[in-house]
Amino acid sequence: MSLSLPSVGMSPLRVAVVGAGAAGLCAARHVLARPAAYAPPVVYELTENVGGTWCYDERVGCYDNGQPIPSSMYKNLRTNLPKEIMMFPDFPFDHQLPSFLSHQEVQRYLERYCRSHQVTPHIRFSTVVEEVNPVTLETEGAGPKTVWEVTSSDIKGAKKMETFDSVFVCSGHYSDPCLPDIPGMDHYKGTVIHSHSYRVPEPYSGQSVVVLGAGASGLDISVELAGVNAQVILSHGKPPFTFPLPPGIRQAAPLARVNQDGAFCFQDGSTARAEVLLLCTGYNYVFPYLRGDALGLEVRKELVSPLYRFLLPPAFPSLFIIGVCKLILPFPHFHCQVQFALRVLEGLVPLPSRAQMEEEVRGQMDAKRRLGVPNKHLLRLQADQWEYCQDLARDGRFTPLSPIFRSLYEEVWRCRNVHPQDYRKANYRLASDTQWELIN
Ligand SMILES: Cc1cc2nc3c(=O)[nH]c(=O)nc-3n(C[C@H](O)[C@H](O)[C@H](O)COP(=O)(O)OP(=O)(O)OC[C@H]3O[C@@H](n4cnc5c(N)ncnc54)[C@H](O)[C@@H]3O)c2cc1C
Ligand SMILES: NC(=O)c1ccc[n+]([C@@H]2O[C@H](COP(=O)([O-])OP(=O)(O)OC[C@H]3O[C@@H](n4cnc5c(N)ncnc54)[C@H](OP(=O)(O)O)[C@@H]3O)[C@@H](O)[C@H]2O)c1
Repeated sequence: MSLSLPSVGMSPLRVAVVGAGAAGLCAARHVLARPAAYAPPVVYELTENVGGTWCYDERVGCYDNGQPIPSSMYKNLRTNLPKEIMMFPDFPFDHQLPSFLSHQEVQRYLERYCRSHQVTPHIRFSTVVEEVNPVTLETEGAGPKTVWEVTSSDIKGAKKMETFDSVFVCSGHYSDPCLPDIPGMDHYKGTVIHSHSYRVPEPYSGQSVVVLGAGASGLDISVELAGVNAQVILSHGKPPFTFPLPPGIRQAAPLARVNQDGAFCFQDGSTARAEVLLLCTGYNYVFPYLRGDALGLEVRKELVSPLYRFLLPPAFPSLFIIGVCKLILPFPHFHCQVQFALRVLEGLVPLPSRAQMEEEVRGQMDAKRRLGVPNKHLLRLQADQWEYCQDLARDGRFTPLSPIFRSLYEEVWRCRNVHPQDYRKANYRLASDTQWELIN
């Protein structure tokens, strides 16, 4: 085990959790479930609510206190994963609900998760974490030990510094818009917004809109806009979609530049004018309270590395970044990562040396790069997520995810790619631990 890990001994370990979204609630819930090893956690949450992304706020921009509004949720969003697998594996959604839910239903679920596990008393609402710094202490006989100084500021601006044995970073990564450099953008005089600030389609009714990017946001919002008679040009770099799109949407090649006359020029040379440019170009990784250089971590907009097992910086294995990967089944993934991390802290999962962990991560990344994976996609897991979660469960000796999670996830992805407008009409039922059924 690394020398800088705290050890479970006479006094319970103190854990700080940054963020009370799904990941932070999951971390706090599992800490609370192990009272012999851990003191109750301190959960810092910059808003007044739990739920993170799922806490819809019709406002955009900043709160009165100057903090940016983190949620990217829009009013009509429905989940793109069915509740039967989106749930934390030990905490089902209400069985009477349909499979694909509104954000209000997910928010209610997270509030219930929080209440049922008695996490609420441990959350410091309206409190922003400003700094997280490791401090190495010499202990008598047991070698050096890392503790974490967490500096936070409450709504009145009062600062506080507290010390912990471990920090769980659960502040999410879908809040800071990724804004592409578009040559000639100065020539464009229309409205520009990012999907982070998109809430409702009505303001765009009857307008011409170029939607840039065709991830979940780009595709879903294009369909919403077409529903209010906007004329949508969906510009993206994926192979053209062959599934049916509503009549108001036409696809275009990626955007090359804005011409001097303000028209959009696409990479195939075609041009179009539009009143609105809606950037659905994804999000940056940002952890303003972490000093990457001091942690041996490179935090770039598109990549955080090295993270051993996509979870911890090898130089400081008592800091855990939960949910950094993309293309995952988020709640079950957090559930596995948190349990693994707690067992690492308890010394039940021995870690290799810092050098070995760094070498392993480098090897994984290099292998992906050799396959042509660009840096911005190195943290995508998709098909690899199942083996990843399985390995965490094996090494951490906790219950693995049932195979249902994978099989239903793959089925829903298949349906999404056949009919992105209709796949949410389906309802599923878990027939047993290993089988699901389509019930309509
Ligand atoms: C538009 C959209 C739709 C999605 N749809 C789905 C879906 O259908 N199904 C699904 O499973 N997943 C979906 N996701 C993914 C979603 O992000 C995850 O499900 C999950 O909610 C992420 O939880 P999190 O706790 O990691 O982050 P978040 O939900 O972002 O929570 C982070 C929390 O940390 C707080 N915080 C941030 N910085 C600080 C700080 N410095 N100090 C204190 N607190 C801080 C924030 O206020 C926030 O409450 C969607 C994401 C988006 C953006
Ligand atoms: N429940 C729902 O229905 C729903 C709706 C919206 C979002 N979400 C979730 O929210 C998260 C974020 O999704 P997201 O779609 O906002 O972000 P995303 O998944 O990162 O997708 C962004 C897309 O924009 C593309 N892109 C980036 N720059 C571009 C450019 N200059 N020109 C053209 N395309 C560009 C990216 O392509 P490259 O990858 O090639 O860079 C990518 O396909 C995901 O977890 C998603 O599942 C869910």
